[in-house]
Amino acid sequence: MIESSRQEVHLIADRFRADPRVAEARQLLLSALRDHQSALVGSQPAVPELQSAYEEQLGRLAEARGGKTYFPYLASGIGNGPWVELADGSVKLDFISGIGVHGLGHSHPLMLEASIDAALEDTVMQGNLQQHRPTIELSEHLLRLANAQGANLEHCLLSTSGAMANENALKIAFHNRAPADRVLAFDNCFAGRSIAMAQLTDRPQYRTGIPTALAVDYIPSLDAEQSAESQTRALNALDKHLKRYPGKYAAIWMELVSGEGGYYPGTTEFFQRLAERARQDNILVVADEVQTFGRLSRPFAFQSFSIDHYVDIATVGKITQLCATLYRAELKPTGPLLSQTFTAASSSIAAAEIVLRTLSDSNCFGDQGENVKRHDYFAQRLGELAGKYPGKIGGPYGCGMMVAFTPGDGTADTANKMVHAMFAAGLMGFVAGANPSRIRFLPPPAVTQREHIDAAIRIIEAVASATPSAN
Ligand SMILES: Cc1ncc(COP(=O)(O)O)c(C=O)c1O
Repeated sequence: MIESSRQEVHLIADRFRADPRVAEARQLLLSALRDHQSALVGSQPAVPELQSAYEEQLGRLAEARGGKTYFPYLASGIGNGPWVELADGSVKLDFISGIGVHGLGHSHPLMLEASIDAALEDTVMQGNLQQHRPTIELSEHLLRLANAQGANLEHCLLSTSGAMANENALKIAFHNRAPADRVLAFDNCFAGRSIAMAQLTDRPQYRTGIPTALAVDYIPSLDAEQSAESQTRALNALDKHLKRYPGKYAAIWMELVSGEGGYYPGTTEFFQRLAERARQDNILVVADEVQTFGRLSRPFAFQSFSIDHYVDIATVGKITQLCATLYRAELKPTGPLLSQTFTAASSSIAAAEIVLRTLSDSNCFGDQGENVKRHDYFAQRLGELAGKYPGKIGGPYGCGMMVAFTPGDGTADTANKMVHAMFAAGLMGFVAGANPSRIRFLPPPAVTQREHIDAAIRIIEAVASATPSAN
């Protein structure tokens, strides 16, 4: 809630928010939520009586959107931590969180409160012609977090998707380094679904039939073993590009843990050496933190990898409930380059503030913070399964609250089959990468406990033991 100051008590809006009826309504909603969500504490199969209506609804959805959804998932509208009830009455352990969005899990009371605050605003959406006070607090909060270890990002522009936050980052970079018109990026990177971002993304099938929008040159990312050879390969590739196109690169695009690409984290030395070399040629460093934000040992992955001083532009999304582009003061565009109708929904802005506070308050960060501890525990348990089911489970991979394993022979077909078998058994993960395809998890950092990880491991084991070996 917005704190009242001497000036604010003059506002009708603040008197409305402070009205005791509003406080009472808030308490009633919260206590009703608590009563109902407390029943959701474990996976449950679907209710047979709901099955045909559920299938009919899924069919209608597929018809309306022009294709089936990846999972037969229709939310009922309530959950409890990582547990979520679907409209067929089943309860799933959601360890993919809408691909990394629900950092506080489902139906978190603080998120309900944030939504109530937002519902008291005069409009559902905020926009560039119509900003409100929580926008200021949130933008300043993101900047404070970003600069906590020595980065120097002074501006924060809100937007509604990771792709748009990345488009804005790219525009800022090109505008400042014109006429440089090329970008460097890592093999396997993913940056979003706009035409430019589909070009940057290292997946040819995501740009079939799409005109070439951008000149991108790729650098190998570190291999899974983080070997010295793979680091040298990347540095050599960078050098080669810089010699081939001197003065033509505006930015090096860094996805610090390749997310969609299969959970390959870099290292401090790797990123520092690449960033140092890029800087020698006046190339801007962009950190795409749309998937990593909030999941490693620090709020920003560039802080976990200690490359704060190199970062010129950073983008966030997903877990932040809205998206944003943060950039250095000297990169502020000199023309009207950046705008859009919506900045974000009032509820996204209120929820974003709560997410930032709750991630910190629940000790997610630090070298021995919960993100690291839970990763270690999850990785240890997956490692045990890998020992018990060789050829069926490989790994573990990833870092922080980005955890993955390789199923069986690592083909896309095997990964998709296993993800669907896990879904049917009550656990939600998702595929990532190619050659090998992996199964990844993005558990909600603020609410995941050991007991949830144990429940996930039980389901993975049950599915693995029921799956025939590839050979
Ligand atoms: C690293 C990264 N960048 C950008 C995006 C695009 O975000 P959005 O889907 O919100 O446009 C994603 C989405 O998965 C991502 O993982």
